[in-house]
Amino acid sequence: MEDQKLLELADKAKEAAYAPYSNFKVGAALQTKNGKVFTGCNVENSSYGAAICAERCAAVKAISSGEREFEVIAIASSGEDTVYPCGICRQVLHEFGPDMKVICQSANGYESYRLSELMPKGF
Ligand code: THU
Repeated sequence: MEDQKLLELADKAKEAAYAPYSNFKVGAALQTKNGKVFTGCNVENSSYGAAICAERCAAVKAISSGEREFEVIAIASSGEDTVYPCGICRQVLHEFGPDMKVICQSANGYESYRLSELMPKGF
C-alpha cells in the first residue's frame, strides 16, 4: 500500500483513541509482509502508567491474528509536531520488523525512516 494511503488509515484510526488524560490522540496503521493491514489507537488508563500506545495496539492486533513479519507502520496524531514512536514501541516493533519502514506524520506531510535508524542495536 502507498505511504500516503497507510497514513490516511492511521489518521482515521486515531479517532477511536481513548485519551481523556492527555487529550493527545494517536493512530497507527501497520502493514505486514503479506499485505495485511492492522490499525490501532492509544488507550489510556486512570492509572496513567497503563496507557497503551497506538503502535503497540496495532502490533498486538497483528501478532494476535497470527502475523509475525512487519513491513511498514504509519503514525498520525492530533498534535502539530511530527509524531515519533516511543522507546517501548520501537523495541516491540523491532522484534517483528527490525528494518521495517516507519512513516511519521509531520506538519508538511510525513517523514520516512527505517526502524533500524530509530532503534539501532535493539535488544
Ligand atoms: N502515544 C502513542 O500512542 N504513540 C506515540 O508514538 C507517542 C505517545 C500516546 C501515549 C499516550 O496515550 C499519549 O500518546 C500521550 O503520551
